[in-house]
Amino acid sequence: MARADLFRAFAGRINTPQNIKRMLNQRAKNLSPSPTMAMDGKAKKLLSQGVDVVNLSVGEPDQDTPDTAKSGALQAIAANFTKYTASAGIAELREAIAQKLSRENHVEYAADEIVVSNGAKQSLFNTFMVLLDPGDEVVIQAPYWVSYPEMVKIAGGTPVIVATDARSGFELEPEALEGAVTAKTKALVLSNPSNPTGIVYGREKLLALAEIAARHDLTIVSDEIYERLTYDGAEAVSMAALGPDVRERTVTVNGFSKAFAMTGWRLGYTASNRQLAKAMSELQGHSTSGPSSVTQKAGLAALLGSQESVASMREQFDERRRYAISRVSSIPGLELEVEPKGAFYVFPKVGALFGKSIAGRTISGSEDLSMALLEEARVAVVPGSAFGSPDHIRISYAASMKHLREGFDRIERALAPLAQPA
Ligand SMILES: Cc1ncc(COP(=O)(O)O)c(C=O)c1O
Repeated sequence: MARADLFRAFAGRINTPQNIKRMLNQRAKNLSPSPTMAMDGKAKKLLSQGVDVVNLSVGEPDQDTPDTAKSGALQAIAANFTKYTASAGIAELREAIAQKLSRENHVEYAADEIVVSNGAKQSLFNTFMVLLDPGDEVVIQAPYWVSYPEMVKIAGGTPVIVATDARSGFELEPEALEGAVTAKTKALVLSNPSNPTGIVYGREKLLALAEIAARHDLTIVSDEIYERLTYDGAEAVSMAALGPDVRERTVTVNGFSKAFAMTGWRLGYTASNRQLAKAMSELQGHSTSGPSSVTQKAGLAALLGSQESVASMREQFDERRRYAISRVSSIPGLELEVEPKGAFYVFPKVGALFGKSIAGRTISGSEDLSMALLEEARVAVVPGSAFGSPDHIRISYAASMKHLREGFDRIERALAPLAQPA
């Protein structure tokens, strides 16, 4: 057989669903796609087809990246700052991050304890990759941010989900943590302020959790990416600031996506003890070689420049938060059990709608409801099942007031018939 024919024959054999499945390893087969990205993708696709969708699914600020960051990037390009950098990030940025942590978070780090990555997602990924051996358990409270359990699984660990509910204000109770710890437990992950519930942990509760972590020698992965978005006087306390022992066992994760509206630039970081930082830097050296040189300069300029845009974004979000709370509280079928004090989401309970129908479709769970809202009301939200909390939906208020008003009007109209007695 001629070589070209042979290759064609092989290609035909490879390109079958069974073969493709065989090609994938167990890790790939265990993966679940990111439901928030999937919903955002669906909404964006409909928008590109000219369908008028209000997208309240997305976890990104609608504001523009601050001019300080843009100028930093433009200057970097003009100065040909376009080569590989140190894999853990450029020294000036790591130093500026260490100073930020000292100034704002009251915890001291040296620049070589900071590792800069392609978004906080990669920072979390690096953390689990250097922490976990096969079978190591990681305690994650539900409702959780969608990617924590997946990342733990990819890194070979076992996520141990501890449910929380409105009775504890969606906070992980110390007794619940204690009850979940086994001889295999290696780490605890906290999202504070929380995506998706918007809760902000107080110092006392953090101390109680840290004390248990110390007793069982756990590493605390403290995802603080929403720390600058808190409201009503709530203060985001950094776990690592609680004391020298806690600092040693904590990996603080943060990034530029939310506070500086830089989601597409991909810039995040960890602050940790030096051994972990070294391991993550080495890991990164073999995976991405570090974040983009231009993005790093943009982040440096954002950190060193005026923080006015962060303050004004926070104020806008607070106004939208109050609006979202008032709308959610008045739409029959949605129940806001806990008022959010941080991040930019409301997380109402929707269980009262289960068993009812929208436009002839029976709503048997938060996924059906989200799909019905997208297809019938043209509003994208994320089903709570994505966060391990199937009786809720997540609505992002990181959208303009115009979009928020329209989105809530649509939800209200779609749900109104369900509120009528049968
Ligand atoms: C809780 C939480 N952690 C981490 C991230 C990842 O952020 P980044 O864009 O920096 O990768 C997000 C983004 O949605 C988030 O909500």
